[in-house]
Amino acid sequence: MEKPHIVTCTAPVNIAVVKYWGKRNEELILPINSSLSVTLHQDQLKTTTTVATSKSFKEDRIWLNGKEEDVTHPRLQSCLREIRRLARKRHNNGDTTSTDLTGLSQKVHICSVNNFPTAAGLASSAAGFACLVYSLAQAFGVEGELSGIARQGSGSACRSMYGGFVQWIMGNQEDGKDSLAQQVEPESHWPELRILVLVVSAERKPVGSTSGMQTSVQTSCLLKHRAESVVPHRMEEMIKAVRGKDFAAFAELTMKDSNQFHATCLDTYPPIFYLNRVSQQVIHLVHRYNRHYGETRVAYSFDAGPNAVIFTLQQHVPEFVHMVQHFFPPETNGEDFIKGLPVKHTPVSEQL
Ligand code: ADP
Ligand code: DP6
Ligand code: CO
Repeated sequence: MEKPHIVTCTAPVNIAVVKYWGKRNEELILPINSSLSVTLHQDQLKTTTTVATSKSFKEDRIWLNGKEEDVTHPRLQSCLREIRRLARKRHNNGDTTSTDLTGLSQKVHICSVNNFPTAAGLASSAAGFACLVYSLAQAFGVEGELSGIARQGSGSACRSMYGGFVQWIMGNQEDGKDSLAQQVEPESHWPELRILVLVVSAERKPVGSTSGMQTSVQTSCLLKHRAESVVPHRMEEMIKAVRGKDFAAFAELTMKDSNQFHATCLDTYPPIFYLNRVSQQVIHLVHRYNRHYGETRVAYSFDAGPNAVIFTLQQHVPEFVHMVQHFFPPETNGEDFIKGLPVKHTPVSEQL
């Protein structure tokens, strides 16, 4: 048997501080508003994907967290098709160093593992599809702008193609060619910024992001208002806060945006509840903490799940962690308590 050609890559998750929720085109994954996120450090919450190509493989196959999944999934097929198209284009343009034609016709076996809960509102689809697209590109010798392909795997994945502070510009072309991610500032821009992930529940969420936002687009007029009249200005303010390293402004915008996203979930009919009682207790704790000091030292953000993502500055980490451990002691009885703090604080990440 011929030896397979193997590449392995990792990609980190990103947490949106101006959230994406809602598509104007389901197939191309084009959003109804722009969004902005912070990419975590590479050695924290991440996906590791291995791609093997071989003449002896009869078909494309994929395993996720050790279990074989359906390779005909349309989003997976979009990513595979687009990477192969770019590889063919490169080859036809005379760049034969990238990959040879025999390599191009070979089937792939993909093996992907997340080191954190999948589908629990911790952006597994973002790290997962960013990693998939990057690994496939490496395997087929493709370089250049890849966020437009990652977007077609999962919208939020386009932002994980870059490190630091990243915006996904919604674009306005019908073919989606201008709906891309762009780095606003690199990770090195704000080294004091810290992110804590408080895992409230590692369970799969009852309503996935894709179907949740579909129902929201169909039924929530708050979502329409948010996309048209709130987010455009908020994006500008957020970029200003990030560029100026204005933590108080960054934190306030982050919390307001998370709250408005969850308000649109409640405004969806039938309503979607991603936050639980522990999430609400974390929200209260953050506001009490900030009120105590008379300044905004800590912010929270929740994606489509109950798990809290905390933003703060390096100098406040020990005290805040101490307080969380006091109010939510690890491994105590039942769901009322945060089960642990598995992720230590780190600066945000380098580019892939
Ligand atoms: P999350 O909040 O974790 O992003 P989503 O509902 O957006 O949850 O997406 C979860 C889905 O993303 C999974 O059911 C799976 O289809 C896909 N996914 C997660 N991790 C990976 C991965 N490593 N490789 C490919 N697809 C993945
Ligand atoms: C709440 O990118 O997971 O995390 O594009 O359908 O795959 P699909 O959805 P996904 O949605 C992410 C929603 C969010 C906010 C965000 O990351 O911006
Ligand atoms: Co997701």
